[in-house]
Parts: sequence; C-alpha cells; structure tokens
Amino acid sequence: MTNLPKAELHVHLEGTAPPELVRHIAARNGLPLPDRLLGIDGRFRYTNFLDFLRTYDLAASVIRTLEDYRDITYEYLCSCARTGALYVELTASPDHARLVGLSDEEHLDGIARGIDEARRDTGIEGRILISAVRNFGVEQALRVAGHAVDRPHPYVVGFSMAGDEAGFPAGDFAEAFALAAGAGLGCTIHAGEWAGAESVRAAMELPVTRVAHGVRSIEDPALVAELAARGIVLECCPTSNVVLGLYPSYEDHPLPQLRDAGVRVTLGSDDPPYFGATIAGEYAVCAARMGFTDAALREITRTAIDAAFCDEDLRNGLRSRL
Ligand code: ADE
Ligand code: ZN
Repeated sequence: MTNLPKAELHVHLEGTAPPELVRHIAARNGLPLPDRLLGIDGRFRYTNFLDFLRTYDLAASVIRTLEDYRDITYEYLCSCARTGALYVELTASPDHARLVGLSDEEHLDGIARGIDEARRDTGIEGRILISAVRNFGVEQALRVAGHAVDRPHPYVVGFSMAGDEAGFPAGDFAEAFALAAGAGLGCTIHAGEWAGAESVRAAMELPVTRVAHGVRSIEDPALVAELAARGIVLECCPTSNVVLGLYPSYEDHPLPQLRDAGVRVTLGSDDPPYFGATIAGEYAVCAARMGFTDAALREITRTAIDAAFCDEDLRNGLRSRL
C-alpha cells in the first residue's frame, strides 16, 4: 500500500497532533495537560461526537505558538509522505488559534513553515483550507472568511466549515461562503455526517464543489443522483465514521454504494490519533473491507487531485507523479 500514490483532502490540523506531541507542546508552553483530555490508556478521551468536539478544543487549547503549528504541520506531513502521500490539504482553524492569543498571521506562518520544511525533506505538498466552526456562530465565520479574503496567503486555497452540523444549519452561513467563493477560494463544508440528507441538500445551496463526509446522502437516492450529476466530491473518512459510531462496521459504510452510484469520492483521516486513523490506513481499509481494487484506489487519488483547491500548475505536477 505504501507505494500507491495517495492524496488527502480532509484532515483537521489540530486533530493530527497525537497525545505525545500535545504533551510535549503543553510542557514547552509551561501548561498542564487539561483534565479529561486523555484516558488512563493515554489516548484522547471522549464518549460521543459532541464530547469529541470538546476534547478537540481542549487539545487545541495548549497549542499556542507559531512553532507549535509548525511542528504539528511538519510531523503530520512527514508521516503522510512516509506512506506514499503526495498532497494533503490541511484544514486549519484560526478561531482555535485566536482563543489562545495567536494572531491569524502567526498561525498561518507556522503552518506554512511546516509545509515548506516537509516539502524540503520529503517532497510532499501541502495547502491550507481555512475553516470556521459552526458552533462558534455566524459572526465568527464571517470574520474568518473575511480575513482569508482580505489578506490572501499563497497556501490558503479554500474555505471550510466544521463543528456541530445538527445544531447549526448550513444556510445560516451563506454570507461567509459567498465571500470566500467570491474571492476565488474553493469551498467545502461538513454535511451528512451528524445530520441527514437534508443537511447535504442545504450544503449544496452553498457555492461548494465538495462536501466533507456527505455519507448520509445515501439515505436519499434522489440526492445521490444529484451529487453524481453535479460532480460534487465527497471527502469520505470511514474510520472516523465507524469509530464515532455513525456506522457499526466498515462493511456497513456506504462509501462503495456511493461510488457505484457515480458519486466522486476521496479519502481522509479527519482527526487521525483520535480515531486510530491514517491516510494510508483509509486506503488499506477500502482494499481489505470494502472490496476496492488497486485501480479503484488509484482512481480515488486521481479524483482527489482533480478536486484539490490548489492552482493548476501544482495540480499538473501532482498528476505527473501518479
Ligand atoms: N472537527 C474536527 N473533526 C470534525 C468532524 N469529524 N466533524 C465536524 N467537525 C469536526
Ligand atoms: Zn472533519
């Protein structure tokens, strides 16, 4: 599996830092590890999706400096490169950085350094999606989108939205998406993960070409047909879905059905150490548990490169490495 070229469009940057790195960063910043962050097994602790979001916020609360963001980015990209990844889009949350007093500029500079140094050492390419968090509200989302638009950064290629999908409908954020899309940023949004097909329908009213997860579209055949007809790309994260209890097993996951129905699909690890996931592991799961052939997995990488929000020069360079 290592020599199969891979590309990842869906991974949350703070969510890539494993417990050991979070522990190291907290100590470097003179901070105790937050209570309730880790279980007695030393792994991130949570009981359900909303509790997972709280644990994620706790881990992010000790990530405080430009150097921290550089280190997390570098470590993650190098780990992906070692297992055959060519390209990763990192979902970054300026809101989490702001909460600990880091400016948007320092946040982005740290990530950009991590990308540059990982490229220098491994050849992997990375780009950034700026993400708002639904449950932080509409005003915050507008600020995040506005900043990405007003101060363009060469590595920021897209706008995304994470957080509590069921409690905060996509339509409320139409202005933030219009702002981002109007400035040429590619757009994607979490939908069809913790809410059903109606949430994906609402997402499709926004100027998005991709949907994060989107797997619950399977509950509405007409919606599946529309996704296929419009060529909307789903960023599927099977391990995240199974570990968080959306589906009881990989065999119950709708990814193969969506693909068979003509929906364009890609793979992502979402929040790797929280779910025991890696990008290579997602490819391996598709092969071992969902019947995907090598050719089908290559097609997934090709789809990811086609749907990436990077510029055309980089896209062509990545295609030549397939
Ligand atoms: N933030 C981090 N991981 C997430 C997920 N899987 N869904 C929504 N928001 C998230
Ligand atoms: Zn996600």
